[in-house]
Amino acid sequence: MSIIFNKKTNSFLLNTPSSSYIIRIYDKKYVLHGGWVSRIDDWDDDVCSMPLIDRAFAPVPAELHGKVDFSLNALQQEFPTSGRSDFRTGAFEALCADGTIAADLFYDSHKIIKGKPGIKGLPATYVTSDSETDTLEINLKDPVTGVLVTLVYTVWNNRDVICRHTIVKNNSGSAEGIYKNQSVKLRRVMSASVDFMTSRYKMLQLSGAHARERHGIWQKLVPGTQSVESRRGTSSHQHNPFIALADYEATETTGQVFGFNLVYSGNFVAGAEVDQFNMSRVQIGINPYNFEWELATGETFETPEVVMVFSNNGLGELSRTYHDLYRDNMCRGPWQKKERPIVINNWEATYFNFNAEKLFKLADRAAEEGIELFVLDDGWFGKRDDDRSSLGDWFVNTKKLTGGLEEIAEGIHKRGLKFGLWFEPEMISPDSDLYRAHPDWCLHIEGRDRSLGRHQLVLDLSRDDVVDYLTETLSKILSTVAIDYVKWDFNRSQTEVASALASPANQLKTAHKYYLGLYRLLESVTQKFPNVLFESCSGGGGRFDPAFLYYMPQCWTSDNTAGLSRLAIQNGTSIAYPASAMSCHVSAVPNHQTGRVTNISERGHTAMAGTFGYELDLNKLSKPELDEIKEQVALYKKIRSTVQFGDLYRLRSSWDAAAPAESSAYTAWNIVSKDKKQAVLTVSWQFAEGNPEVVLLKLKGLDPKAKYKLTCSTSATIRALLADFPFPLPESTFAPLPAGLATSGDKLMNVGLYLPYMPQYGGSVQIVLEKC
Ligand code: GLA
Repeated sequence: MSIIFNKKTNSFLLNTPSSSYIIRIYDKKYVLHGGWVSRIDDWDDDVCSMPLIDRAFAPVPAELHGKVDFSLNALQQEFPTSGRSDFRTGAFEALCADGTIAADLFYDSHKIIKGKPGIKGLPATYVTSDSETDTLEINLKDPVTGVLVTLVYTVWNNRDVICRHTIVKNNSGSAEGIYKNQSVKLRRVMSASVDFMTSRYKMLQLSGAHARERHGIWQKLVPGTQSVESRRGTSSHQHNPFIALADYEATETTGQVFGFNLVYSGNFVAGAEVDQFNMSRVQIGINPYNFEWELATGETFETPEVVMVFSNNGLGELSRTYHDLYRDNMCRGPWQKKERPIVINNWEATYFNFNAEKLFKLADRAAEEGIELFVLDDGWFGKRDDDRSSLGDWFVNTKKLTGGLEEIAEGIHKRGLKFGLWFEPEMISPDSDLYRAHPDWCLHIEGRDRSLGRHQLVLDLSRDDVVDYLTETLSKILSTVAIDYVKWDFNRSQTEVASALASPANQLKTAHKYYLGLYRLLESVTQKFPNVLFESCSGGGGRFDPAFLYYMPQCWTSDNTAGLSRLAIQNGTSIAYPASAMSCHVSAVPNHQTGRVTNISERGHTAMAGTFGYELDLNKLSKPELDEIKEQVALYKKIRSTVQFGDLYRLRSSWDAAAPAESSAYTAWNIVSKDKKQAVLTVSWQFAEGNPEVVLLKLKGLDPKAKYKLTCSTSATIRALLADFPFPLPESTFAPLPAGLATSGDKLMNVGLYLPYMPQYGGSVQIVLEKC
C-alpha cells in the first residue's frame, strides 16, 4: 500500500518508488502540507515538521487566539482558501450566498481505496489493474456554507507519479440561515496546490507561438507570482499546461525536479507564488478568467487532473516518467502501442490546388518510396478552394474530386497505402451551408460582432445539439468511406465565448462546458471507430496537451517543419510528451515557414525522432533526394519501434538555459529500446562554427555489458547533393564513422563516442546501435 495514514501524527504518507508526499492534519481540522521529498518510509513523529512561529502581521484563527504562532499565512497548506488569514493565492474561491468569498476547508474524513476512480466527463490517466495505484480522498468541509471539497490523490506504485484533482459538492442543505439550500458560484478551483518551504528553485515553462511552440524557458523564482496561462479557449501555442520546479543546480541528469501537467485542453493557469518567507506555492488548474460555475445545492463539480511527477535525477528522468505514463496509461485503443505508419501529407505539396490525378501522382511516388499512409489535407469538401469558406459543410467538393471521396480512398488503397483525411470539426465558416442554416450555432455574444480567425468561427460545443450533430456527421463519413486515419484540426483561438442557449447566470460556464462537449464528441467518435488512427492538430501544435492523448495517440507537433527550428520545438515538446505522440514531417526547401535551406538528410534525421512522414511534392525532388528518402523510409521502419516506444536521453541541447555549460552548437538525442537491443543516436548542428569543439558524446541507457554494432546512416547521396559546395569537404563529412565498428555499451557510456565530423554544412549524423 503506497498510502499510509499515521494515527499518532495524524498524517498521510504518499509513497512512490522514490518520493514521499506528506500531508498533516493539525488540531483535527487544518490540513497542512508536510513536504514532497525523496522517499522516506515512516512518519512516526513530528520532529521534522514545520515549527509554528509567531510572525508579525500574521492573523490567527479566532478559535486559536491563544496560539499566536499559528497563522495560515505562514504555514504550508494543502488546499488554501481565499478570504481568510492566508494572503497568498487560494486554491479555492467561491461566491457564497452572503456575497463574500471566504471559506474554511476543514478536515472532515478520508478514505483510502485501491485503484483509480475516473473523473466525470473529463479525460484522465487510467489503470488496467487496481494494483497499479492507491487513491486517497480527503474530504474537507466549510462549516458555514456546507460546501464539501474532496482532494483526490492517486499514487502510482511503480512510477514516481501522483495524480490529483478536486471535487466540489454544494451541500448547502446541511447549512443554516441564509446559506441553507443556496447555490455557490465557483470562481477558482485548482486541480492542485503544492507549497514548498523554499523558493530556491528555477521554473521551467514550455512557451512560444504558432510555428515556434514549446521552447523550454527557465527562470529562477522571485518574490511574487510567476505563471503561464491560456485565455484562448485552447491549451495554446503560447504556453503549454506544464511547469516544473527544479533545484538551481539541476541538469538533465542530476537534481530534484517536480513536474505539473494539466490534463485539459482549455484555458488554464499554472505558476508559482513566492511569499515573504521565501516559501513557494505552485498552483495549476482551470483558468479563473472567463469562468464562474454556479453550483446549485446538491450539485458537484470536478476539476481536470494534474499529473505530478518527481525526479531525483534531473529533467531527463522526469521526461521518461511522463513518456511511459502517457504511453501506457493515457493513450488508448489499438494504436496505443502499435508502430505508426509513415505518412505523406499533400498540404505543403498542393495546398488547396489539387484533383484526383494530382493526388494519385503523389501517392504513386510515395508508394515507390515505401511510404505507408496518404493523408488528404484541407480543401476536399464544400466549395473550399481557399480558407474563406465551407468549414461545417462536410460533404465532398465534387468539382475538385469528381469521383467523390470513395474514388480517392479506393485509388489510394489500390496503391498499397492507407488513406487519411483532414477535418476541422469544431469550426464553421460564415460562408457555409451550415452557418446559413444555423447562425446561432457558433460561440458568440448577442448584440456584438463576431471576431473572425482565419475567416472562421468556432462552433458552440457547450450545446448538446451541436455535439450530437457533429457526432452524426463525422460518423456518417467514417462509416461510408474507407478512412484509416483522421487529422483533427483546430485553427483559431476562441473569442466571444458565450452560448445562445446559456442564461446570463450560466454564461461563464460556456468555456468549460465547451470542453465537456468536445470530450463527449471525441469519446463517441474515437470509440465508434477504434481502428482509425486519430491525430490531433491545431495550426501545428496549438493543442498539444495530455488530454488529447486520451483520445488521439499522436499530435502534429508544429506547422514549422524547418529541420533546425524543429530541434528546439521537439526538444521542448519531449520534456513532457513521448515521441510516439510527436508527429514530425520532412518538408520542402526553402522551408515554407522560415525560408531556411537544409539538406534532406538533416530534415530526415530530425523528423525521425517522432512519428515520421513527409509533407512535400515528392515529384519535384531530384534523384539523389528521392534515393535518400527511400533510404530514410527503409531505415525508419527498422528503428521506429525504438523511437516511438523507447527511452529518450537528451544528451545535448543547442541552448540549455537550465545548465548553460551543457549547451553546445548541436543537439544530440539518444533513444534506446526498452530491451536495450537497439539505440538511435541523432546529432544535429544548429549552427556551424569555425574550428568547433570535438564532439564527444557519452551515451546513456545502454546495456553496459553488451557489445553494440554502430552503423552511420549518413548516405552517399549526400555526396551528390553537396557536389556544388564551393569548398572541398573532408571525407569525414560523408562518412563520420568507419564501417563495421562495434564496441561495448560500457565504453560508449563512460568514455563516450568521438565523432570526427566537422559540421561545415550545418548537418547531422544518425547512428544506429544494434546489440551484437
Ligand atoms: C493547419 C495545420 C496544417 C494544415 C492546415 C490546413 O494550419 O496545422 O497542417 O492542415 O491547417 O488548412
